[in-house]
Order: sequence, then structure tokens, then C-alpha cells
Amino acid sequence: MHRDSSSCNSYNYGDAMYWDARYVKEAETGNFDWYQRYPALLPFLSMHLTSPSSRVLMVGCGNALMSEDMVKDGYEDIVNIDISSVAIDMMKRKYQYMPQLKYIQMDARDMSFFSDESFDCVIDKGTLDSLMCGSDAQSSAARMLGEVSRLLKPGGVYMLITYGDPNLRMPHLDPLAYNWQIILYIIPRPGFCKANGSGSSVRSPLEPIPLTEKGMLPFDYTMEDPDSHFIYVCKKKVETAVDSVLPYPLNADFL
Ligand SMILES: C[S@@+](CC[C@H](N)C(=O)[O-])C[C@H]1O[C@@H](n2cnc3c(N)ncnc32)[C@H](O)[C@@H]1O
Repeated sequence: MHRDSSSCNSYNYGDAMYWDARYVKEAETGNFDWYQRYPALLPFLSMHLTSPSSRVLMVGCGNALMSEDMVKDGYEDIVNIDISSVAIDMMKRKYQYMPQLKYIQMDARDMSFFSDESFDCVIDKGTLDSLMCGSDAQSSAARMLGEVSRLLKPGGVYMLITYGDPNLRMPHLDPLAYNWQIILYIIPRPGFCKANGSGSSVRSPLEPIPLTEKGMLPFDYTMEDPDSHFIYVCKKKVETAVDSVLPYPLNADFL
């Protein structure tokens, strides 16, 4: 999948049959992680998901190593779902010795199997992107995000790792509809090398990006790597009488 949304039309990434066929074909090649591997995401998880006993939902897990890596790092309870029964069967077999990992075939648009507010964290690496490349993209995205918000405990976090910049993703992540506050990070794709002479960046990828009032990138913001990945951390609000009315963190842009 690429930043240019027209390029996803050649494959139906939203279709279970597409993924089943792909996982059958790739059965011999082993695990594959889209976009980023666990070590690159660890600092973001550490910032926003403090306890190893947190209950985590890996939505659209595919055959990625991410969940295994998290268990090796101490996480105790990771439920993995995917629409592809081929992927789920393979992963179930592979990880039968790891009780911290559960695998269930499920459509992210209907996760009624789980009760409200039953997860501390939902991790999505490329799954919303897949739905956005399928038929009925808008409605699929809204159904999945509604489910994610429903499943999060107050204070819980939806971590979306995507190629979609704020122009493409913010209209779907609607903070008022889903009752969360969004923090954005941008990280270069694995293996990205700065062009010679471009100097060293003053901004660390661990610094949140200051967003405009509408949740967009500042107009003068430039990305070192034009194919960077975006990490949207959507933190479900804990309702209090004095809740802020602002859906995005305050920043110098509009103070
Ligand atoms: C781009 S892959 C990402 C896989 C994995 N998260 C990773 O990081 O490597 C997208 C995954 O989403 C799954 N998927 C697509 N539509 C889905 C849906 N409606 N419900 C659950 N999973 C879905 C696909 O089967 C595929 O495994």
C-alpha cells in the first residue's frame, strides 16, 4: 500500500479472499511485518502503554512478528484478530506454546464478541489502511473505528500505524465521534537514509507533531522522508466534569 490512494485499487486489500490467497502463497516465507517492526515502535508503546499486564488487541494481525516480540518483552495478554482464517490458523498453530497470545478469526467491523471497554490498547498496523483500499471504504472505516472506540477502556489507547497523512486519516478519526484525543508522530520508513548534506534533524521522531486546530500538519512542515509512516495515538477520554473541549493537544500553533 502506498500514500497515493489510487495505487491501492489494483488489489482489494479489504477482501478476506485476497488475504487468504496471499497467506497461502506466502506460507513458506515466514512472518512479515508491514511498515515497521516492534523495536521501532517500542518507544511509542512505552510512552503510551505502561503496564505489561495491559490487555492488548492486535487488530488485523496477519502473520506479523509484532505480538511475539511484545510477549518476549513481557506483555502478558495479547488478543490477535484477523479476517483471514488462513493467517489465524497458521498463527494459532505457530504460537500454541505461548499462552499470552490468542488468535481469533474476526472482522474488525464487527467485534461484538468482545464486551465494551475490555481493552487497554488496540494496535492497528496497516488494517485501517486495508479497509480504506476495499469496497465501501468510508463505511468500513467508520464501522471499524466505532468498534475500536467501544472496546477501549477510558484512558485506553488506539495506536494506528499507517501510511495515511492527516489529510487522509483525520477526517475518519473524528475525535468528537470517538471520544478520544489524538497525538501524532511521524517516523521514517525502515532503512531510510538522509540525503548527503541534508544535515542532522533537530526533531526527534519521539516528539509529537504540533497540529493545527483542524488536526492537520502545520503548512510549513516538511518530512525528511517523503514515505514516512504516521503513528496516531488516539487516547480515549476519561470523562470528568471539567473535560477539555479541545480534541487535539494544545500547541503553540493556536495558543
Ligand atoms: C497490511 S496487513 C497488516 C498485517 C499486520 N498488522 C502487520 O503489521 O504486518 C492488513 C491485515 O488486515 C487484515 N484485514 C483486512 N481487512 C480486515 C477486516 N475487515 N477485519 C480484520 N482484519 C482485516 C488482513 O487480513 C491483513 O492481515
